[in-house]
Amino acid sequence: MAFKVIHWVILARLLLQIANIYARVPAIIVFGDSTVDSGNNNQISTILKSNFDPYGRDFIGGPTGRFSNGRVPTDFICEAFGIKPTIPAYLDPAYDIKDFATGVCFASAGTGYDNATSDVLSVIPLWKELEYYREYQKDLRGYLGDEKANEILGEALYLISIGTNDFLENYYVLPKRASEFSIEEYQNFLAGIAGNFIKELYNLGARKMSVGGLPPMGCLPLERTTKLFSGSKCIEEYNDAAKDFNEKLEGLIASLNKELTGLRLTFSNPYDMLFQMIQNPKSFGFEDAATACCGTGLFELGYLCDKMNPFTCSDANKYVFWDSFHPTEKTNAILADHLVKTSLAQFLW
Ligand SMILES: *[C@@H]1O[C@H](CO)[C@@H](O)[C@H](O)[C@H]1NC(C)=O
Repeated sequence: MAFKVIHWVILARLLLQIANIYARVPAIIVFGDSTVDSGNNNQISTILKSNFDPYGRDFIGGPTGRFSNGRVPTDFICEAFGIKPTIPAYLDPAYDIKDFATGVCFASAGTGYDNATSDVLSVIPLWKELEYYREYQKDLRGYLGDEKANEILGEALYLISIGTNDFLENYYVLPKRASEFSIEEYQNFLAGIAGNFIKELYNLGARKMSVGGLPPMGCLPLERTTKLFSGSKCIEEYNDAAKDFNEKLEGLIASLNKELTGLRLTFSNPYDMLFQMIQNPKSFGFEDAATACCGTGLFELGYLCDKMNPFTCSDANKYVFWDSFHPTEKTNAILADHLVKTSLAQFLW
């Protein structure tokens, strides 16, 4: 009899522990660019927007400012963590601290690690995303009290997805950075900013973090279009720059994990998975990976991805890319699922 009671006590304790573990990530907090922006650019003066048809064509409720036909990877990750199916944009007046307590997105399409990148299209610089995060911390403490708010901020998962624009919108197209830095120097410059950003987040209480790697950016349809007359192949130089930068990020992550006590920083690298989809679209159920669904699929993006465009595809699930720069929802779902099972799995249990 006494034996049985002890068993039940142990079992109850175990269940409680499991319940606690399940609640371990109470919120997902996002920094970055258009790969994860859920609508912040709607609220600022920039030409880089997507809160109109056909963007959001497959999103319940229509366009949101996400640069896809549906959800972005961070939405799927948030859902996989059992929190909620979408992460609201911090600047969206339709949401408040009640919503943000379980997840918030500070990302801005078109931004980069480099301040000069966010200047190109007048979007939110990364340092400003961090300012917004500080403001959010204050609001959360006001809403839940210091103790509960600090617990959430410390247990939350922080996802950072940024960097492509530093190369494709800045270094490779504008003369300033290219005259100041060799490509390797520029990568080191960006990695230095990434390191400082992570340290600042850590000093503000963040402990579980993921830094995203760069995609095979030479294979984005817009970049391939510049090689239209040589067979629209992927631009190897850009892919190599992405791979080299990803290696630097990995090194940075390893050293920060050693340096900062209690930090759990992981590298979420979309490169290989996306490259496989691009090389072998049929094995993932896609029909086309070289051009995008929207418009001709060669160059349309933002306002050029217009609902009047007669060439837009009817089924985005057949395409790896939605517009000339951004994946379809289906691609985002595959990438998110891959990350949840690999780099992010440690935070699930
Ligand atoms: C970017 O700009 C902010 C605000 O002016 C500044 O504090 C920060 O040092 C700049 N970052 C770099 C790497 O220059």
